[in-house]
Amino acid sequence: MPEITGGENSRPQWGSKMGFLFAAIGSAIGLGNIWRFPYVAYKNGGGAFLIPYIVALVTAGIPILMLEFALGHKKASSAPRAFYLIDPKWEWVGWWSVSFVMFGIVIYYNVIIGWCVNYLIFSFSQQWGSDPNSFFFKSFLHKSSGVWDLGGLNLRIAGAVALVWLINWAITYQDIKKGIERAVKLIMPLLFVITFVIVIWSMFLEGAGQGIRLYATPDFSKLMNLDVWISAYGQIFFSLSLGFGIMIAYASYLPKDANIFKNSLIVAVTNSFYSIFAGLGVFAILGYMALKQHTDIANVVDSGIGLAFVVYPKAISLLPFGAVFGVCFFFLLTIAGISSSISIIEAFTSAILDKFPISRQRIITLLCIVGFCGSLLFTTRAGLYWLDIVDHFLNQYGLITVGILEAFIIGWLYRTEKLKQHIVSRLGLTGVKHAIFKYVILQVWKYCIRFITPVALGFAMVTSMMREFSAPYSGYPVSGIIILGVGWLLATHIFAFGLCGLPWKGEKQWTTDNGTRSAVRTKGE
Ligand code: ALA
Repeated sequence: MPEITGGENSRPQWGSKMGFLFAAIGSAIGLGNIWRFPYVAYKNGGGAFLIPYIVALVTAGIPILMLEFALGHKKASSAPRAFYLIDPKWEWVGWWSVSFVMFGIVIYYNVIIGWCVNYLIFSFSQQWGSDPNSFFFKSFLHKSSGVWDLGGLNLRIAGAVALVWLINWAITYQDIKKGIERAVKLIMPLLFVITFVIVIWSMFLEGAGQGIRLYATPDFSKLMNLDVWISAYGQIFFSLSLGFGIMIAYASYLPKDANIFKNSLIVAVTNSFYSIFAGLGVFAILGYMALKQHTDIANVVDSGIGLAFVVYPKAISLLPFGAVFGVCFFFLLTIAGISSSISIIEAFTSAILDKFPISRQRIITLLCIVGFCGSLLFTTRAGLYWLDIVDHFLNQYGLITVGILEAFIIGWLYRTEKLKQHIVSRLGLTGVKHAIFKYVILQVWKYCIRFITPVALGFAMVTSMMREFSAPYSGYPVSGIIILGVGWLLATHIFAFGLCGLPWKGEKQWTTDNGTRSAVRTKGE
């Protein structure tokens, strides 16, 4: 069957290998690594969590990342077009993934970055005072009594969110080389340097050792708990930006001879290494706080959002040169967030540019305006509840479902062997090494995609669904769960199906893998 590339020659390309790697690592490293990972690790057995985390990385993280890179690269397409070219009936999977991340994840993700921008400014004068908890929930968020008690917009947050969208717009408005690539080449080295400084600084604080010991001490009894395993898979998926359509789009901009295997390993390992390293800093700070407050670390640690916006401000107030530390920390969160949010916008944009004859500048402007309006929904007094529900459902069911579908479509319909050959032919190895990769390592990958990954992800999803039926998530009212959680998943599905019904630009030149001639659906340009 002829390979379809649909205008590959006109496809933009990264200016350098480094540019691609920085962009992919920048997408992976985000808010999820800096405060979510350390907390999830602590809650799920500390050092012992590394076992399910690494199992999830090896059985699902790396295999799906390699699949997404190989698919995007082979088809030189965004997610919807890559799936369409396999078989038109799977186009919706691509549209659904890029839609719920564009009209779901990134709109609340940018609100959290907006909080970071505010906290960056608060850090100068430690505006949270002596009670950061009450400051965050009452004075800053003006948190209402429940999901449907909206209570109007929070202008301070809305202003910061407008700035975040403006920065996203300014970066993505340009083509990938002048926009995203240039931005990540600036952001990523800065991000690594600031992280290094913060972590080393934290490790030299009094009491740091006690915090790190707790982080590293394995509690193996937790490994028997299913939730620990579900958390590990969820963390890996969100953190590696899998199921977002991002890695497919980013790989589609790589030159023909790019080494998919090497790139996947570099991105996956750097991302996990970064999470574990950042965790050292977080727990060193917690150890310091516990010492200063003469209490146990278990009393100072807090869940995801609380860790960054309540516990850290407390620590900043106690630290010598706390203002400098605070500004660095919230600046770090802000830039880590932006390098991820631009990648989500790119995943959707690349799909629209593949499908419709519209200019990049026009679609980016439109998306950023719509995205900003969507973000406003999360800046009301009920914003935190909305964010929590939407985030839970899109991550737990959206991303994981896309992962299962990808493994199923590639493993069972398209045949993993075709992607394996694509990866093998670009390994750049000869002799025994080539044979080992071809017949051992990539053979294991193939079996992961066909059996292990879908079974592991399927198991994680079914278990968490059963939890959903036994009690509403976090005790929220059922109306909130149905409208915001399930509703968001359904609405983005309908939107995705709507887009599938429209014709592709230039489609008449294509033949898909299942042999369907696409010309029938061409508008006739
Ligand atoms: N991968 C990004 C993060 O972890 C979305 O924040």
